[in-house]
Amino acid sequence: MSTHIGAKPGEIAERVLMPGDPLRAKWIAETYLEDAKCYSTVRGMLGFTGRWFGTEVSIQGSGMGMPSASIYAHELINDYGVKALIRVGSCGALSEDLQLRDVIAASGSSTDSNMNRMRFDGLIDYAPVADFGLLRTSVEVAERRGIAMRVGPILAADAFYTDRPDLYDTLADYGVLAVEMESAALYTIAARFKARALTLLTVSDHIKRGEQTTAQEREQTFSQMVEVALDTIIA
Ligand code: ADE
Repeated sequence: MSTHIGAKPGEIAERVLMPGDPLRAKWIAETYLEDAKCYSTVRGMLGFTGRWFGTEVSIQGSGMGMPSASIYAHELINDYGVKALIRVGSCGALSEDLQLRDVIAASGSSTDSNMNRMRFDGLIDYAPVADFGLLRTSVEVAERRGIAMRVGPILAADAFYTDRPDLYDTLADYGVLAVEMESAALYTIAARFKARALTLLTVSDHIKRGEQTTAQEREQTFSQMVEVALDTIIA
């Protein structure tokens, strides 16, 4: 096992979907995968491996925020040889023209986190981006499935509750679609260790309009996004 994942060598597939919520990992594995087996319960951060159309795929909870997601991305890639990771999560919309339940593919991720400033000694504002191949495939898959997916930049924030909503307005002026809490770390770690990564999100709340989805609505759109993610990761 690695420091935070209780799998034996070979129990995790090279292709992984990463929801923040470990119970979502269980739901995805039980709903979609053939022969899904749980390989880790360490800290309740469940991980499963099964098959999607004959190809091995793992589903690993990442927890909330960049410190937690970084641990799982780092160990999946470096200790288990994972080559492709797709985060599947929710986000708060910043752009006026997004609606609740919309699906987003995050092409790039700005961040207020200090993690990358530490990496580059505060000298470079590194630009974390999605793997182009995964991004392109996800667009093709969404089109084939008739799912209207927006592609664009997002913000990965350290805090869910912000004291600076004015900064969110400014980011929206610069075309930033939405805010979540993991993508910048995922893209940076994947780049550093030569893996491929993508973030797919559904809009669970609209920050400017103060709207929120119901639990039932979240489940339905979560399914569409997971289907795009699964088809993309096995392509
Ligand atoms: N994930 C879902 N909604 C969010 C929000 N409003 N801020 C940060 N992450 C989120």
